[in-house]
Amino acid sequence: MSATETQASPVHQTVRTPDPNAHPARLKADAVSVFYGEKQALFDVSIDLPEKSVSAFIGPSGCGKSTFLRCINRMNDTIEGARVAGKITLDDHNLYDQSLDVVELRARIGMVFQKPNPFPKSIFENVAYGPKIHGLARSKADLEEIVITSLQKAGLFEEVKDRLHQPGTGLSGGQQQRLCIARAIAVGPEVILMDEPCSALDPIATAIIEELIDELRSNYTIIIVTHSMQQAARVSQKTAFFHLGKLIEEGPTEEIFTNPREKRTQDYITGRIG
Ligand SMILES: Nc1ncnc2c1ncn2[C@@H]1O[C@H](COP(=O)(O)OP(=O)(O)O)[C@@H](O)[C@H]1O
Ligand SMILES: [Mg+2]
Repeated sequence: MSATETQASPVHQTVRTPDPNAHPARLKADAVSVFYGEKQALFDVSIDLPEKSVSAFIGPSGCGKSTFLRCINRMNDTIEGARVAGKITLDDHNLYDQSLDVVELRARIGMVFQKPNPFPKSIFENVAYGPKIHGLARSKADLEEIVITSLQKAGLFEEVKDRLHQPGTGLSGGQQQRLCIARAIAVGPEVILMDEPCSALDPIATAIIEELIDELRSNYTIIIVTHSMQQAARVSQKTAFFHLGKLIEEGPTEEIFTNPREKRTQDYITGRIG
């Protein structure tokens, strides 16, 4: 056994001291575990996720990235047999508080999925739907304003302004994904969760989404799951590496990719595991 192996420290000691340049974290996870029936999929994950910044979750398939992401807006509630332990707080409010309105929570913490999933409605209605059900627009003009601004923020407006009343499903994959981002933005979220948002897209559409993520970070807390280490390195300021349901290491992206502390992180980023 090598010296480094004998000195291997428990996971909780590998978490780095906070980056003094990082934005403050309003979103915090504390000892989060997830069970699917008898099977534990996530073990004691604690992490601070800074605002106005992109955090990337990386790790081999099945390591629990999506499971953890879904904890953050309580999407696991919708999975039969799933149980979450531990605490997640946004501005010190426990997201698992019994009295919390989950529909409202999912407006504050929006989600974008791997496969673009526009509603079978017009481009306009896709974006207008959330503001309507949340009563965010006082008038028709108000609603139009929200739709247009959201499409602009998602970098889609110029491409679709002449066909707002045509089906969202008629757009290209990359445009559909930006439509889904506009739909999330329309309800005024603070946090946007993205689960492999580019994995169904071609390289050009991927580059456009990555640029968009970089722009959006000045206004939102963004968390992206990606199987692409290049993507994590390009878009994120913080990276968290997961393996077999555990958070192995987290820290400033540059440090994780150039100078990881843990051998398992090193093995993953150099392609030895995964
Ligand atoms: N709905 C589910 N029911 C049962 N097991 C699940 C469910 N979703 C995920 N799992 C299991 O939890 C583990 C973590 O999965 P997941 O979070 O999807 O990983 P990742 O996103 O990193 O690929 C895997 O072993 C997976 O099989
Ligand atoms: Mg996943």
